[in-house]
Amino acid sequence: MSKKSPLAVAMLAFLPLASHAFGADPHIRLIASTCLNCHGPGGKSLGAVPGLAGQDQAYLLTAMKEQKSGTRETTVMRRYMNGYTEDEMTKLAEYFSSLK
Ligand code: HEC
Repeated sequence: MSKKSPLAVAMLAFLPLASHAFGADPHIRLIASTCLNCHGPGGKSLGAVPGLAGQDQAYLLTAMKEQKSGTRETTVMRRYMNGYTEDEMTKLAEYFSSLK
């Protein structure tokens, strides 16, 4: 996958997630927007990478924790999850599970 330009990342922050704004805090929505390059627009898979939208909240959180701890095999996700706290992962799981 090609490198993301900072502009593209900034634009993504304002695009599809805005329509699902509900109560999620802006910090979490900003992080979530960075996931969509790989996980598909709105968290809906376009093919190779699993979708996140509407997945079970506990399943998503467990997956992220296992990726971070290394008990789940990953190609890229461990590096991403290393950057996030458990609180952020909890809110990301809540956020993506709430998307339809
Ligand atoms: C560079 C592309 C990329 C980015 C960015 C990315 N992911 Fe992933 N994600 C993957 C891939 C590929 C997998 C499959 C596991 C692996 O190979 O690491 C995956 C797997 C997952 C899974 C497990 C899903 C399942 O059903 O097994 C979760 C949960 C997840 N990612 C959450 C996130 C979140 C949350 C973000 C944003 C903070 C994110 N990902 C950003 C590529 C990415």
